[in-house]
Amino acid sequence: MHPTGPEAIMSSRKVSSSICCLIFSFFCMQFSIVVDAASDNISQGQNITHLESIVSAGKIFELGFFTLRNSTNYYLGIWYHKISPQTVVWIANRDQPVKSTSAVLTINNEGNLMIMDGRITYRVSENSLSQNTSAILLDSGNLVVRNENLDILWQSFDYPSNTFLPGMKIGYNRKTGKVWSLTSWKTAEDPSLGTAELKMDPKQPNEYFLMSGSQIIWRSGVWLWDESRFTLLPEMTVNYIYNFSLYRDENETYFTYSVTDSTISRLLLDTSGQVQQSSWLEGRQSWFLFWAQPRERCDSYAYCGPFSSCRNDITDCRCLLGFRPSEILKRLNQSGGCARRIPLQCEDSSVNGDEDRFLEMNNVEFPYNTKESKVLAAEECKFACFNDCACTAYAYNVTAVCSLWYGELLNLIQRSEGDIGGKTIYIKLAASEFQNRGGQKKLTWVIALVVALSVLLPAAYIIYRWRRKLKEKGNLLVPISLFVGAVSMYVCAYGKCI
Ligand SMILES: *[C@@H]1O[C@H](CO)[C@@H](O)[C@H](O)[C@H]1NC(C)=O
Ligand SMILES: *[C@@H]1O[C@H](CO)[C@@H](O)[C@H](O)[C@H]1NC(C)=O
Ligand SMILES: *[C@@H]1O[C@H](CO)[C@@H](O)[C@H](O)[C@H]1NC(C)=O
Ligand SMILES: *[C@@H]1O[C@H](CO)[C@@H](O)[C@H](O)[C@H]1NC(C)=O
Ligand SMILES: *[C@@H]1O[C@H](CO)[C@@H](O)[C@H](O)[C@H]1NC(C)=O
Ligand SMILES: *[C@@H]1O[C@H](CO)[C@@H](O)[C@H](O)[C@H]1NC(C)=O
Ligand SMILES: *[C@@H]1O[C@H](CO)[C@@H](O)[C@H](O)[C@H]1NC(C)=O
Ligand SMILES: *[C@@H]1O[C@H](CO)[C@@H](O)[C@H](O)[C@H]1NC(C)=O
Repeated sequence: MHPTGPEAIMSSRKVSSSICCLIFSFFCMQFSIVVDAASDNISQGQNITHLESIVSAGKIFELGFFTLRNSTNYYLGIWYHKISPQTVVWIANRDQPVKSTSAVLTINNEGNLMIMDGRITYRVSENSLSQNTSAILLDSGNLVVRNENLDILWQSFDYPSNTFLPGMKIGYNRKTGKVWSLTSWKTAEDPSLGTAELKMDPKQPNEYFLMSGSQIIWRSGVWLWDESRFTLLPEMTVNYIYNFSLYRDENETYFTYSVTDSTISRLLLDTSGQVQQSSWLEGRQSWFLFWAQPRERCDSYAYCGPFSSCRNDITDCRCLLGFRPSEILKRLNQSGGCARRIPLQCEDSSVNGDEDRFLEMNNVEFPYNTKESKVLAAEECKFACFNDCACTAYAYNVTAVCSLWYGELLNLIQRSEGDIGGKTIYIKLAASEFQNRGGQKKLTWVIALVVALSVLLPAAYIIYRWRRKLKEKGNLLVPISLFVGAVSMYVCAYGKCI
């Protein structure tokens, strides 16, 4: 029998670490000797082999070749010098790993950082065009190539991987077209370009967009200048060690941040597409997560597509009442999404003459992109929505706040039954959506009538015949009409129940 629980984990860890030590003891010995003597810079003509590394002056970051797990792929990267397990913050050649231990990092005659592996070369830096360059790893985690005048020719901070370090930028330069964005790793073992990308949209340059291809997965909400945070990220100001800022000049627009004390901190776009801000706790030797977004699947931007409701507990997307699955969206591989079944009267008055109405939906979390205003009464809020054809829903609360939604409803969350504290929203639908339900009631009554007649008519005929036969024996009109009344009452009551 295999041991289970913590003991099993402990023993497997012990086994693997002892194997690691056996295999790599020779490597580790050499490595530690090198690290102790490590410099923070590479000069022209100098080679860094896979056994060597350079360490920033304050011993915060380290640059060198590394492998992930037991893979034979070698990457040139930067990681925290003192943090274990190894936490990589930048990779030079994430899509082009080198396969042999003979690869070296060097600065070639042009003054560019190159990975040389026999005849295979990988250019790390570009455009140095300087005869006398050196590279230095700074305590910020930035690898900088500079000339003898210390002008920066190239820097790793301009080519982010999946980690946003203090001092880096996420944004763009509209003059050069340069974009600073984070891209997730494919998997924890494969750092090549994954699908999630955190970037800024030049059309809305005050917000983060988390994209998967061209699809928005999540957005941070607009930047609130006075609060120094994003609308949908109230957590940002809970911890004051982070100082985020939005910078704008004639060429560049970007977000950057600093940390107000010496805490080691990073913002990671992980392989699942979640953005995570965490700090290293020296005492506990672990990363402490301050916030992560999107918090839940239903928070992922337009996860269920428009006019649907999302449930976190049972992994479910459903069309709102009055909407049906949208074929166009399905073809575009969007996450489903729904379209209106019957056009609103305000859009197309030829469909039916009745005024649009509102359907009440309880225990929900409001959709994104609400517009709020103060009103005097609930009716006023309702009419504000009714009178604007673009308005698709409204909600009103006891503090007299009227919330209105225009166009598509996105990220409406349906809470589970046991979950209290949900809100109530009113969704605009064509009047005929309500008449259809009335129509169903009418049908029930027609069935009841048919059933009643098919029972009553033969019964009446039998009674008529019976009455004629018994005419001489006395007047039975009163008991017979009582009987007929009782039968019809029963049938009608039954019919109502259908
Ligand atoms: C490069 O590192 C060496 C130590 O190996 C150090 O003496 C030298 O000052 C460093 N150069 C620069 C420009 O920092
Ligand atoms: C650096 O590496 C390159 C390519 O492997 C090699 O040709 C060169 O001789 C090496 N230089 C030094 C100083 O080791
Ligand atoms: C890597 O290690 C795992 C066990 O940790 C093993 O199952 C796998 O076969 C190894 N892969 C390679 C390429 O050696
Ligand atoms: C390169 O720079 C060093 C000092 O940083 C200087 O001594 C040397 O003369 C320079 N070489 C050339 C070719 O400019
Ligand atoms: C936050 O960063 C901005 C811009 O870098 C700077 O002007 C400001 O002084 C910083 N605030 C704190 C409290 O560090
Ligand atoms: C903007 O870019 C131009 C050149 O493209 C440069 O001359 C100018 O100094 C830049 N402005 C700022 C504020 O950096
Ligand atoms: C849609 O998704 C399916 C499976 O997820 C994939 O095989 C297909 O290539 C996608 N189509 C488009 C147009 O992206
Ligand atoms: C009413 O809505 C406003 C705006 O969304 C919100 O700040 C407030 O807490 C709500 N009041 C109640 C009692 O829910």
